[in-house]
Formats: sequence, structure tokens, C-alpha cells
Amino acid sequence: MRVFVAGASGAIGTPLVTQLIQHGHEVIGSFRKPGHGERIEALGARAVRLDLLDAAAVRQAVIAAAPDAIIHQATALADVNFSRSLDKSFLATNRLRTEGTDALLAAASTTGVRRFVAQSFASLRYAREGGPVKSEDDPLDPTPIAAASKSNAAMRYLDETVTAAGGIALRYGGFYGAANDGLVGPVRRRQFPIVGDGGGVWSFLHLHDAAVATVLALENGDPGIYNIVDDEPAAVRDWLPVLADVLGAKPPRHVPVWLARLIAGGGAVMMTTEARGASNAKAKRELGWTLRYPSWRQGFAAAYAPATRAGQASRPVVQGQ
Ligand SMILES: NC(=O)c1ccc[n+]([C@@H]2O[C@H](COP(=O)([O-])OP(=O)(O)OC[C@H]3O[C@@H](n4cnc5c(N)ncnc54)[C@H](OP(=O)(O)O)[C@@H]3O)[C@@H](O)[C@H]2O)c1
Repeated sequence: MRVFVAGASGAIGTPLVTQLIQHGHEVIGSFRKPGHGERIEALGARAVRLDLLDAAAVRQAVIAAAPDAIIHQATALADVNFSRSLDKSFLATNRLRTEGTDALLAAASTTGVRRFVAQSFASLRYAREGGPVKSEDDPLDPTPIAAASKSNAAMRYLDETVTAAGGIALRYGGFYGAANDGLVGPVRRRQFPIVGDGGGVWSFLHLHDAAVATVLALENGDPGIYNIVDDEPAAVRDWLPVLADVLGAKPPRHVPVWLARLIAGGGAVMMTTEARGASNAKAKRELGWTLRYPSWRQGFAAAYAPATRAGQASRPVVQGQ
């Protein structure tokens, strides 16, 4: 297939482009920041500079590329300062998930694109009640915390709009496996504590496995929503000490809920004490997906341990494979 990847220069875009090409697809990959085109071309794809928020430019780029399929992986999370207001931190990403999705879908419908796959998110979104692990059929959080209500609405919009158009929304777990993984710095600096009982459940995903699942969804997936997460959703109190250990950091601090709420806000408390994880049963069953890193236990070690032992900053050990 000829595949247009929006956001080809990012954390998931990079290994995805590599794997698409390995599978014999022709790839046109978009980027935004100057210099990132070379990164895409080095992977063997054609690079186009594109602002997804410029609908006319999106239309033009898609017409010029004449793809069979579009994969939307654009977010704006590099160098973001995470504040108490998650909506503030996700402002640009929310626009890419709403306006950007609309622009790509409009371009797809005028150019006869047959398949559409878009990046969504599984962790932290399911209703904070009942069991710890949720399937795609389980309800999303009906009352997301105020600080993340717009971000939740943007993800819901993407899920609904893409699937209504016959596309696929991939609800990924928390990515790791690249040089700019967001958790590494805070965990190394002991700025990520276990709050209360640390019972919030997270689902993780190595970027290699994320790219494998995305290629499978592109090639074989039926329209709909898929959780793309690893096999071991885990409470913060379980995974955080392991990550700290792999990174060579001191064990995480413990702080009471009231203090975390005061210092970091309700979003941080929700994520660390109430969040639910996600099940990958549907993706395995319907896409035939198998994971190289079924658990963050192996994945964290593979991604971080060698660099840590060498006393270096974390680096993309398996990026691009
Ligand atoms: N599921 C998850 O946990 C998840 C999901 C997404 C990101 N993240 C994390 O967030 C961090 C940053 O992610 P990232 O490296 O992928 O960077 P990013 O800044 O989120 O960029 C992702 C892609 O979107 C493109 N992009 C940004 N703004 C755009 C716009 N207005 N129009 C078109 N394309 C646009 C970027 O292009 P340029 O880079 O060329 O500007 C890049 O190709 C990483 O640590 C990553 O793992 C996690």
C-alpha cells in the first residue's frame, strides 16, 4: 500500500515508518519541525512538511501523495511542560486530535483513501470503578477530572469520528523505548512518588510493539477501537520501584494523598491512585498481535538497563526496529 503517515518524525512514527517499509509499503511521512524531514528520508520514506491544523494544506498534501491509507500519529508532546492543568499541557495535542483528525478525514474522503488508522490512548481513560483492567467495551470515565476534561473530550472525539468514518482508533498504552521517554527524568530525580497506596493501574507499551500492532491494524484490522497495551497492567506501587531500580535511581518516595493533591493537583492523584488499566485481548485475538515485550518488566530492562549501567542518559536501544 502507499501509506501517508502524519507525524512520521515522532516517537511512534519513526519505528512505524521503518516497519511499514519492511512490510513492503511505500511511505510518505509528514513532519513539522525543520530538520525532521531528513530523519524520515533516512528511514526510506518520502518526507513532506505539513501543519495538520492547516486543512487546505492537508488536503493538498494528501492529494499529492495519493495514498491508499492514512495513519494519524501526530501529537505535540515533545518538550511539553506538564503542569497541574493537563488540558493546558495537551492544548496543541487536543487540536491535532480534533481539527487534525477532521482535516485528514476530509482529505481522505475526497481522495479515495481506503484505510484510516489513528492514534488514541487507553491509559487513564476508563471509568474509575469496578475491576482494574478494562476492555474496549467498558465505559470511559463519565466524569474525568476537571484538569483533563478537554483532553478526554478530544480523545473521545477522535475515537468516535474515526470509527464513524470506518477507520480504526488504536488506544495505545504509555509509550516507552525512545530517548525522550517522559518518565525517565522524574523517576531518576525521585520526583515521581508513590501516592497513598499507589493503587492506580497503568498500561504500558514498548514502541516496537506499538509499531507492530499498527502495521497489523493497517493491513488486517476491522474498523473499530483496539486497546494496544502490554500483557501486564500494573499498579504504580508495583511498576514504579522496578523502573527506578532499572534506571539506577533511589526507590520512589511515598507521599500521602492530601499532600500530592496540594502539590501536584487532582490529576496526579487520579493517575496514581484510581486509574484503571486496559486489556489487549481483542488486539491479540483479532489482529494476531504478538509482543516482543509482553510486560514492562522485560521492556524497561531492555530499554534502559544497558544505558544506565554505562552511566549514560537513556537512549533508544531498540528505536527504529
Ligand atoms: N501513548 C503515549 O504514551 C504517547 C503518545 C504520544 C506521545 N507520547 C510521548 O510524548 C513524547 C513526545 O512524543 P513525540 O516524540 O512523538 O513528539 P510529538 O511532539 O508528540 O510529535 C509527534 C509527531 O507529530 C508531529 N506534529 C506535531 N505538531 C504537528 C502539527 N501541528 N502538524 C503536523 N504534525 C505535527 C511531529 O512532527 P515534528 O516532530 O517534526 O514537529 C511528530 O512527527 C515522547 O516521549 C512520546 O513517547 C506518548
